[in-house]
Amino acid sequence: MQTQIFAHRGASRYAPENTMPAFRLALHMQAEGVETDVQLTRDQIPVLIHDENVKRTTDGSGFVQDYTFQELRSLDAGSWFSKEYEGTHIPSLEELLQWVASRPLFLHLELKTDKISYKHIEKIVYDLLQKYNVMERTTLSSFNEDTLKNVKELNSSIDTAFLTSTKMRKMLSYLSSIPADGLHIKHTILNRKLASRCRKNQIPLRVYTVNRPAHLRKCYHLKCSGIFTDVPDIAWSIRKAVEES
Ligand code: G3P
Ligand code: MG
Repeated sequence: MQTQIFAHRGASRYAPENTMPAFRLALHMQAEGVETDVQLTRDQIPVLIHDENVKRTTDGSGFVQDYTFQELRSLDAGSWFSKEYEGTHIPSLEELLQWVASRPLFLHLELKTDKISYKHIEKIVYDLLQKYNVMERTTLSSFNEDTLKNVKELNSSIDTAFLTSTKMRKMLSYLSSIPADGLHIKHTILNRKLASRCRKNQIPLRVYTVNRPAHLRKCYHLKCSGIFTDVPDIAWSIRKAVEES
């Protein structure tokens, strides 16, 4: 099975992260899917932004959870990246789903509940996935195991993955105790043993954030299920070279 390429926050090396231009570019660069981060506004609208505070990626300040969706929409989420993207908005999850519904992309939605719990985020996201009929090509991931438990309680068949940046003993039994279907790890903790144990147990192992050629090659050689990358074009050409070698 080929290692799948997922554009991390969209093709975020080339366009402002977690914006529609970054997602469109990911498709253009032949990524198999996109990864994005989901948080809730004050009026409970799921929006796509990585940090809990809007400061780094917009011209505003303060927390996502303190903005209404309409207020958040008035922020510029492109100028910080480059003048070319001035006027780009923070997208709602719904905007992404509307666009993805008719396009061949997998979705990795990271529920950003590690710092703020965002009550009911699981159900709000779940209802939208149903509305756009994209459940079968979506994985819900989180660093927060309680979020994943809540997702499974809503519907045990929805695909989930536990995110971690630290090595743990008994990782696979921990996964099944959550329960989560897949494991998403930081590239620094990837090793041959973990990759082979996941493969033997048919647990999808996906690795973030893999940008350097040597790290990409390692993921391909270890036959990881997927990688999250800011550079889907580079990931694609290196995968092709590895396959042909
Ligand atoms: O979902 C993989 C990756 O996005 C997790 O880390 O901080 O980039 O959201 P982060
Ligand atoms: Mg993420």
